[in-house]
This record gives sequence, C-alpha cells and structure tokens, in this order.
Amino acid sequence: MKFSLVNESPRLVQTECLVIGVTAGGDLSASAQDIDAASGGKISSLLETGDIETGLGKTTLLHGLNGLAASRVLVVGCGKQEKLNPSRFDRACQAGGTVLRDRAFTRCHVSLHDLEFEDSDPRWRLRQAALAVHRANYLYTVTKAPKDEAPVPLKAASFSGDESQEAILVEAEGFALGFAKARLLGDLPPNICNPAYLAQEASSIANQYDKVELDLLEEEHMAELGMDALLGVSRGSSNAAKLIVLKYSGGPTDQQPIVLVGKGVTFDSGGLSLKPSENMMQMKYDMCGAASVLGAFVSCAKLQLPINLICIVAAVENMPDADAYRPGDVLTSMSGKTIEVLNTDAEGRMVLCDALTYSEKFNPRAVIDVATLTGAAVVALGHHASGLISNDDELAEDLIAAGDAIVDRAWRMPLWDEYQSQLDTPFADMKNIGGMSAGMLTAACFLSRFMEDQNWAHMDIAGSAWKWGCDDGATGRPCGLLTQYLIDQSANS
Ligand code: BES
Ligand code: MN
Ligand code: ZN
Repeated sequence: MKFSLVNESPRLVQTECLVIGVTAGGDLSASAQDIDAASGGKISSLLETGDIETGLGKTTLLHGLNGLAASRVLVVGCGKQEKLNPSRFDRACQAGGTVLRDRAFTRCHVSLHDLEFEDSDPRWRLRQAALAVHRANYLYTVTKAPKDEAPVPLKAASFSGDESQEAILVEAEGFALGFAKARLLGDLPPNICNPAYLAQEASSIANQYDKVELDLLEEEHMAELGMDALLGVSRGSSNAAKLIVLKYSGGPTDQQPIVLVGKGVTFDSGGLSLKPSENMMQMKYDMCGAASVLGAFVSCAKLQLPINLICIVAAVENMPDADAYRPGDVLTSMSGKTIEVLNTDAEGRMVLCDALTYSEKFNPRAVIDVATLTGAAVVALGHHASGLISNDDELAEDLIAAGDAIVDRAWRMPLWDEYQSQLDTPFADMKNIGGMSAGMLTAACFLSRFMEDQNWAHMDIAGSAWKWGCDDGATGRPCGLLTQYLIDQSANS
C-alpha cells in the first residue's frame, strides 16, 4: 500500500472516501469542522440526532454530502473524549481501516490523526493511523485466490499533512513492511513454511537489502558445535533443522550488536508427548517468534537504521517418529549443561537454549528472544500483552516503553531465584519442565541459565502472536515493539 500526504482541506480532496474521527463530548477535529462547514453542518446535525455513532470503533458511512469533492465520508467513533488514549485511538483507526477494506475502496484520504487527545503528539497519531489502516488491509492470498466479492485491500492511502511529515510516513512504511512479512510467515501453512522455507526467506532478505549478510548453519555444523538440545527436537522430523543467522551492519564496526533470537518451530505436534488433536493445527503458529524477529530485521534493513543487528532463527519441526527424542532422554546442550527431557512438548526452550548460547559469540549489547513458549503465558496475560522476562532492568524498561509507544504492549513478569528450583532433577543439570505453577516463569528460568553473562530479555508471545479462536490469523506481534526498540536504540547510539 502506498502512503502519501495531501496538504489540502478535506473538502477539496478527490477520493473514494474521506476518513475522520469523532468523539462523544469532544470538539470536532479540524477536518471534521471543514467537512461540517462545507456540507452545511451535516456532521454536527447527524451527531446531534445520534445518526453518527461515537462509540469506540463504531463507524458511519455518509454518502452524497454537499460541498465535497470526495464521494463519501467515513466517520469513525473514538468513544468518550476523556477516555481516549493510545490504545483506544489505535482500535478506532483499525475499525476505520477494516471498513475501507470491506467496502473494497481502492483509495482513501485519512484525517483520523487530527483528532486530538491528552498527551498525544500529532506526529505519533499520523504514524499510528497509517499503520492501523495498513494493518486492517492485510489479506492472505497465498493458498486462496481472492473471490470477486471478497474484500479488496486498499492500494493507496493519503493522509492530511505537509512535507514536514514525510519522514513519519517513510518510517510507517518501514514498520508496515516488516510487520506484513511477520504476519504472512505466521499465516502460511506448515507444509509450506518449514525450516527450509524460513532459510530461503532469509536468503531473499539478504539479497534484497544493503548491509545484510546471511550465515546458514546446517545440521552437521550444529552437531559440530554441540547443539544437541536443538538437534534432539529436530530428530523426529524429516525436515532438516536450520539455524539462520542474518547480520545487518548499519552501525560502526566496533559497535556491539543487538541480537534477536526467534523460536522457529514450524510445526509443534508435541513430539512423542503428542498434543491433543483438537487445537494442534494452531501449532503452525509456533514459528511466530521467528516471524516477528525476521519482520523487525526487514524493517531495520529497509529503514537502514544506524545500528548493528543480528537475527538468529532456530528453525525446526517437532514431530513424533521412531528416531524422535523421548521423555527421559538426557541431552547435552552447546553450553555443556545437561537437560533431562521430561516432556517433548517443552521443545521451544530446548531449541532456544542452543541458539542463545550461539548468540554469545557476537559479544552482544543485548539479546532478546521471542517465542510462543508456553500455554501458561496465555493463562497469565491473555491475548493483549506479550510476557516479558529479563535479567536487566534497563533493557526491560526500554522494551516496555517501545511497546507502549507503538501499541504492541508487553508486561513484565518476575525472574526470581525462588522459581529456579522447580527445574531441579537428580539426573541432569535441569529438567525441561517446571510443573504446574508459573509455567511461563519456569520456562524463562530455564532460558536464563544460558544467558548468565548477558543482558537478556525473553518475550513469551503465545497469547499475542495470533488471534485465537477466529479466522483472523497471525498478528505479526511483537514485530512493532521490536522495530520501535531498534529505532529508539538507533537514536541513543
Ligand atoms: N508451542 C507451545 C506453547 C503454546 C501452547 C503456545 C499453546 C500457544 C498455545 C510449547 O511448545 C508447548 O507445548 N509448551 C508446553 C510446555 C509444557 C509441556 C511445560 C505448554 O505450554 O503446555
Ligand atoms: Mn510444544
Ligand atoms: Zn512449541
């Protein structure tokens, strides 16, 4: 989708649809005032009679208004003025974007961002409006040709503003590109998106962008490095594991890189500890951590940020097989620590621990892993926040602030020593499950043992990576949070 700026009063913009926001109890925004004046007070009279809905996310499509060059006006309700905040604004923009898609408009002009509310910056509102409209117009078409009557994504959206805001739209396009990549990878079926596919995807990213190099580690190489935890998971699958290492060198050579590590389990059957069949198909999303770090990598490369970034994707499939790893096996990780496998379905941590150990060779300033790691994360936080666990307060605060800024929020949970003993076993340095209580935290405790000397954060995105129980698919999260964090770090470096 193309974004552009139009510096004209809304009444003069020729487009299929003008989009404005209104609140209950607030003043009309500048663009709403302009349309109101041009149309002889239509907006205010329809608001008065209740024919324009102001409830959050409610939309009203108006036709045939006098005095406008545009064919229609879409009025998006943003709820009560005094309750308006970043996440409610985001939801309203998204609702507007969804109508634009469902009505099959090809062009629109958006002025949602001139709706003011407390503590919000107009530049931020423009960026969020652009991102939300883009997000709502995502349509999956890889294995299904869109039918004639199906919603058609917008081709172009213009926004009211002048050249001084050009950089914001460039940034939004950078965000949108990575985010769409993350979402598509998540939505692809597991027979297409397997470890080799992710490797291919990384190779095309490396070819497409400047300052990017790919290092692809095959199983033999991983075996030489002693990655028996990762390889143990992969043993039951006929799809060979790949360790994908993408490097982006946008900063000075002596600047320590940020490392993003993604769980890329392209399908998680549970292995011999087989999952119940009921929800097993959802485990095609078990590579959404990988998808989000690849997406953030693409955004970083597209925006050519002045930092050094490494993206490591541990791509494997977890399947039952005569050669599969078993409950009771003890495996030695690359770090030398031994792990007793008590449940082959706790495979994410097995794969990640070796990828985390591998990350140390880059002398990183921070390592952030992203994984659909535990069902317990969903119990704890539901679908609105990603779980965040870190051994470094500053890193945790930076990530939370980035999530707040882009409305892709994370919530910090504790990494206290007390939880560590749940991983004790007489047969190895640790076992791979920590029992019923605090499942998200004991998984993080497990990972922390491989990051003792690093500034490290772990994001459990089992609840936020896709929309459960409906057909909406992958969310791309927390690609936005990560990209925002990388932008913030670029400004600080
Ligand atoms: N990929 C799953 C986590 C998951 C489950 C994400 C459901 C989203 C929805 C992970 O590999 C897993 O199976 N975790 C187990 C761990 C347990 C065996 C300790 C879980 O959470 O049940
Ligand atoms: Mn599992
Ligand atoms: Zn898994």
